[in-house]
Amino acid sequence: MGGTVLVTGGAGYVGSHVVVALARAGYAPIVLDNFANSSATVLPRLKHLTGAELPLIAADVRDRAALAHTFSTHAIDAVVHCAGLKAVGEGEAQPLAYYDNNVGGSIALAQAMIAAGVNTLIFSSSATVYGQPERNPVPEDAPLRPASVYGRTKRAVELILEDLAAADASWRIGLLRYFNPAGADASGEIGEAPTNVPNNLVPILADVAAGRRPCVDVFGDDYPTADGTGVRDYIHITDLAAGHVAALAHLARQSGVITLNLGIGRGCSVLEVIAAFERACGKPLARRAAPRRPGDIAICCADPARANALLGWRAGLDLDAICADAWRWQVNSGRRA
Ligand code: NAD
Ligand code: UD1
Repeated sequence: MGGTVLVTGGAGYVGSHVVVALARAGYAPIVLDNFANSSATVLPRLKHLTGAELPLIAADVRDRAALAHTFSTHAIDAVVHCAGLKAVGEGEAQPLAYYDNNVGGSIALAQAMIAAGVNTLIFSSSATVYGQPERNPVPEDAPLRPASVYGRTKRAVELILEDLAAADASWRIGLLRYFNPAGADASGEIGEAPTNVPNNLVPILADVAAGRRPCVDVFGDDYPTADGTGVRDYIHITDLAAGHVAALAHLARQSGVITLNLGIGRGCSVLEVIAAFERACGKPLARRAAPRRPGDIAICCADPARANALLGWRAGLDLDAICADAWRWQVNSGRRA
């Protein structure tokens, strides 16, 4: 266990929590980020939380010279590749920007890794590669038919990395398909702080609770679910980050590609999430019925059995923990602002 791990997108939501989990597990993380959707202000908080000196490389993952310099100046053992663009609507409007960043960035990174002789890579993939699942919970071998440009960029990178590992058996690659990451580190020091407007349910509820939005729109109340609203598998960001540490440990023992769902294996409806957030913040949250959001599906819930068995990892923090930690982060970051 241990070693130096480059975390691309390490200033972002998932990346910053992965940095903390790695440092707590005895790894030495290095952050690379271009701050397209984050800010360097997270770095001092990450240093405070981890007690570690965290090198920062302010660079774009597509910048081949910066990558070559990074690999030549640091003895990097593995890479966790979180850098990417993730706004579904923006991807539909700007497909080339999404392919360029998400696919182009991954190719540049893999090439730099080959040049440096680094062969362990974890890629931030998404449950969105499944599109509309035929059945729930969704196992990794379910049909893959991503319904958005964003989802197709994720699947494209998965395919590229599968081809790479087929051509060279020394690669150790983890394709981690995140379901719905939410919440924040229990310290309240780091959390979701996008510089772009949030689209996801939990950060929107935090905005409503903090008075930055008048209400939450409930997108659709006529889905074939128990209360008519959409059902998702919300996984606490701390559990998700721990999954990366467990995957790295597994890849140290076994080469090739592992493809794993990271989810809790239980679905919650929009109304259940609102109720949990109300419990967390101690006040009612205004909501209004709105039409279904284009592209949304009724239910998407992980079958995490493979990750549970292979990694000995399990997501255990529930929706109340997610909302309590998201709200603590909200209150703390509001104080700082
Ligand atoms: P985020 O926007 O908070 O983090 C992404 C980070 O990457 C940001 O700090 C951004 O500045 C950086 N970045 C973007 N393009 C870059 C580039 N070309 N070079 C260097 N840095 C760049 O998003 P997140 O929620 O932390 O997501 C991390 C990864 O996980 C993404 O690849 C995303 O597609 C994937 N993912 C996220 C979710 C989710 O719900 N958060 C779900 C599934 C998959
Ligand atoms: C969305 C993306 C998905 C991406 C994931 C993580 C779409 C269609 N899908 O997933 O590709 O991987 O984020 O970034 O954008 N909801 C409301 N009101 C809101 C916001 C959301 O009712 O204001 C509902 C949605 O309809 C859904 C649930 O809340 O039922 C969760 O939504 P969200 O947090 O956006 O995640 P996904 O749609 O699952």
